[in-house]
Amino acid sequence: MTTIGILGSGNVARALAGRLREAGHEMTVGSRDPEGPVAAEWAGTGVRVAGLPEAAGSAEVVVNAMPGWASLEVLTGLATLSPGQVLIDIANATEFDANGFASAPLYPGGSLAEEIQRALPGVRVVKTLNTMHESVMADPGRLASPPSAFVSGDDTGAKQVVIGLLGDLGWPRDWIIDLGGVRTARVPEAFVLMVGDLVRALGPVPFGLSVAR
Ligand SMILES: NC(=O)c1ccc[n+]([C@@H]2O[C@H](COP(=O)([O-])OP(=O)(O)OC[C@H]3O[C@@H](n4cnc5c(N)ncnc54)[C@H](OP(=O)(O)O)[C@@H]3O)[C@@H](O)[C@H]2O)c1
Repeated sequence: MTTIGILGSGNVARALAGRLREAGHEMTVGSRDPEGPVAAEWAGTGVRVAGLPEAAGSAEVVVNAMPGWASLEVLTGLATLSPGQVLIDIANATEFDANGFASAPLYPGGSLAEEIQRALPGVRVVKTLNTMHESVMADPGRLASPPSAFVSGDDTGAKQVVIGLLGDLGWPRDWIIDLGGVRTARVPEAFVLMVGDLVRALGPVPFGLSVAR
């Protein structure tokens, strides 16, 4: 059992929290407004709702499921994050076009994951799950061909924790690709720049990036 705090109460939190709870983990969803509608949404599910500082501070594993553009400022402002914690970064940090699709990276030549790791050197950042629709994150078998879950992070132990949690979410080990250090998050983060074109080409179907072998 791991204590897990998901920061941000939107689509990604909804996709992950229930499944991780079923797997036996103690789940908290962190919200800017924990007394608001989000409290009723999670009532009776066994998933606790708390403010962002409490959700971050009470967890062994923190999941960043906030907008990419806000993530660095919010995370670096959280005094409750502490050295040794694993921080799973799922966010994509981009500018947006008029249709709401990602249009340009916010950290060209780098990545949000690297920025977070640089700003919070004691926290063990692992990038994963950001290359697929939220409906695939905890149900990878739903697609016609196997998607890939890329894992990028400097700390081997943290990546082992994350790979274990991906297993709890239904990911077979050979669909998970450990790319290496946190610097390797750059290309997976750039994939989101293709999502608008893919949605125009394929329609609004779930998909994820996959490496065929
Ligand atoms: N959805 C996908 O298919 C998908 C796929 C890959 C990656 N991602 C990435 O995952 C992240 C979350 O995506 P999502 O679809 O779950 O987004 P979302 O539905 O918009 O949820 C994000 C949540 O973050 C919180 N939030 C919003 N603005 C914030 C701010 N300024 N500061 C702090 N918290 C804020 C909100 O929760 P509260 O109002 O409760 O605070 C909101 O519900 C994004 O970075 C996205 O790029 C999403």
